[in-house]
Amino acid sequence: MSFENLLVDRDGAVALLTINRPQVLNALNSATLDELRRAVLDVKHDEAIRVLVITGAGEKSFVAGADINELAVQTPVQGKEHARQGQHVFDVIENLGKPVIAAINGYALGGGCELAMACTLRVAASTARLGQPEINLGIIPGYAGTQRLARLVGKGVALDLLLTGRQVDADEALRIGLVNRVVAREALMADVMTFAGELATKAPVALKYIIEAVNRGLDMSLDQAQFLEATLFGLVASTEDMREGTQAFLQKRKPQFKGR
Ligand code: COA
Repeated sequence: MSFENLLVDRDGAVALLTINRPQVLNALNSATLDELRRAVLDVKHDEAIRVLVITGAGEKSFVAGADINELAVQTPVQGKEHARQGQHVFDVIENLGKPVIAAINGYALGGGCELAMACTLRVAASTARLGQPEINLGIIPGYAGTQRLARLVGKGVALDLLLTGRQVDADEALRIGLVNRVVAREALMADVMTFAGELATKAPVALKYIIEAVNRGLDMSLDQAQFLEATLFGLVASTEDMREGTQAFLQKRKPQFKGR
């Protein structure tokens, strides 16, 4: 499938989606959001793809937010629908059933920070800058930024970033838990693809249920979440991959997981 504003590449079991509107620092307009939705659904349903990487085209930016040209003229009803569209796409990414890594190659602001937060893991170039600057436009985040930021970095730090709209550099993002790793700009894509390749060798069903247990569990009581964990733990015991993983350990060899 080809897209106007997205590039799709493949390296073995790893898919790479590049938001490709560098002339506006990869700002997400409605058309791009819809392409992103279709592209991630393709990845979700393709069993041969085990890990997805998302990045931005060009040197400067991952995604510099929602497209302000569209925001500037939206009606209240369009604003609500637009936010629901973005929230839906990012929910699909968060619950894709396979790891999604954001390779943050520059600005991740507003919708860009929200996109990165919807990914399972975030690797930032040392030159990256992240933030939720909506307050400076007289608006609030609309793609779940108020919710995912507070869940990732805690309420106090989230409110600081949301109310000031200030940008954090990669080192601060790492310190507050907004990104998982920071690497040199020129090493970013090679490091991320190696990382993605490592994850792609792991048991796909176990990866899927770990992500599901963490995502769903955070919205449950500890008691309910532990019940969910135990149920998923029981389910993975039915997989060929569990037998392969445990046998490979006992036979002192590397496991070959098949996702069954
Ligand atoms: N929507 C639409 N266009 C955007 C955009 C956005 N979110 N972010 C950047 N652009 C456009 C700029 O208007 C500019 O277009 P032009 O060349 O036609 O003037 C182009 O991208 C380059 O951006 P520019 O501002 O010139 O680059 P910069 O290096 O001086 O600044 C940023 C970079 C990211 C700090 C700045 O572009 C910015 O603040 N962007 C908006 C971030 C934001 O508020 N996002 C949240 C939106 S809800």
